[in-house]
Amino acid sequence: MESKGGVDPSSSRLFSRAAGRLLNLVRGEGIYVWDEEGNRYIDGSSGPICVNIGYGVREVTDAVARQMAEISFAHSSHFTTRSVMECAEKLARFAPPGLNRVFFCSGGSEATEAAAKMARQYHLERGDGSRFKVAARWQSYHGNTLGALSMSGNIARRRRYAPMLLDFPHIPPAYCYRCWFGKTRDSCDLDCAWALDREIRSVGPEYVSAFIAEPVVGSTLGTVPAPEGYFQVVREICDEHGVLFIADEVMTGFGRTGRNFGIEHWDVKPDIIATAKGLSGGYIPMGAVIASDEIHEAFRGPFAHGHTYGSHPVACAVGSAVIDYVEEHRLVQRSAELGPYLIKRLEELYEHPYVGDVRGLGVFAGVEFVVDKETKEPLPPETEFRRRVMDRCVGNGLLVYPMGGTVDGVRGDVVQVAPPLVVTRAQIDEIVDILDRSIGEAEGEVL
Ligand SMILES: Cc1ncc(COP(=O)(O)O)c(C=O)c1O
Repeated sequence: MESKGGVDPSSSRLFSRAAGRLLNLVRGEGIYVWDEEGNRYIDGSSGPICVNIGYGVREVTDAVARQMAEISFAHSSHFTTRSVMECAEKLARFAPPGLNRVFFCSGGSEATEAAAKMARQYHLERGDGSRFKVAARWQSYHGNTLGALSMSGNIARRRRYAPMLLDFPHIPPAYCYRCWFGKTRDSCDLDCAWALDREIRSVGPEYVSAFIAEPVVGSTLGTVPAPEGYFQVVREICDEHGVLFIADEVMTGFGRTGRNFGIEHWDVKPDIIATAKGLSGGYIPMGAVIASDEIHEAFRGPFAHGHTYGSHPVACAVGSAVIDYVEEHRLVQRSAELGPYLIKRLEELYEHPYVGDVRGLGVFAGVEFVVDKETKEPLPPETEFRRRVMDRCVGNGLLVYPMGGTVDGVRGDVVQVAPPLVVTRAQIDEIVDILDRSIGEAEGEVL
């Protein structure tokens, strides 16, 4: 990331994941963060879509201090704490009806892997021990640890590690802007959902344990909601084949899409929800798996899985404080109300020659760039267009979340726009105005 200054990680002791310099952030409040040089940035993407309630919320920092002073650690194999039990209760109440059992972990990849293992143990408990494969979609993201990456269909992130991954099946994404079946909205008959049926039959239903999908594909495609009816078909197919449906709500949970969980837009009940990010609002590493009563009832013993930091008392105190904050400030409703306004303002960006698509749900939007709006031809990767947009945004005081490879893992540029849900209309205006200017400047560099 080019910045107004920042730190060069190669001159430090960091083994960095970043390609360029790092902004050294020193303070955050509401939707704003400041770097060490005093520059202010609007966080237009809530970090990587996790700081849902904004920065500097006293109720959360107070909850951390209280819990740290009370009891800072308790190993979940032998102990529990009030904060863990309370957070499980709140999360089960926040989740869709019938999903009442919570397993805590420390992030999104841990949550999706735990969900995959929970599905496997569910089948074992029922004497259906041949089922272990988790079907997923190309151009999805379920995490970066090897099990989670085996489920992920993010071509770019898989490539280097492909020899180390499990042989899990993948079906085409529900990507209406670039439909893999050549359909339009009018001619759509949900081929992308029915592909799951074909895939399960060809693998052999007796080997398929679960299907995992993001209700709105986040970073890999740049905020792409599944079409209407999609998850109803998925549910029907899963039921027919005895396959569990795992909703990956790591990005889409906690009001981001305008419902408590994204899958509720489709009125479908998943068997398992894997979640993280907004659960702790980015205040502490945390994830969770929320299972249906039916899944829990099938277990004759405990779930044979866990980590040292699972059900961490302080993380759970944060989770409770964040859920309270989301409810008290009606942030789910706020996201539903402000989402259409965000999209309407972003649609003004179609004036730009390179803006090909604007999409989203709730305060969760994506902008995809193309060189030709008719053919949807992506920009040549060497133009690094998303990086240019990001750099211009940073220079103008805005942070967005850039991602590439939407077409084939290499070509295709997007930015995600998803400010904390405490954002105001005036702040949305400010975000879109800066993005507008920044896209114009980036286009000026390559046109
Ligand atoms: C949908 C989804 N699942 C899983 C993950 C992995 O979460 P984490 O980075 O916390 O391991 C992410 C992260 O971006 C995500 O967006």
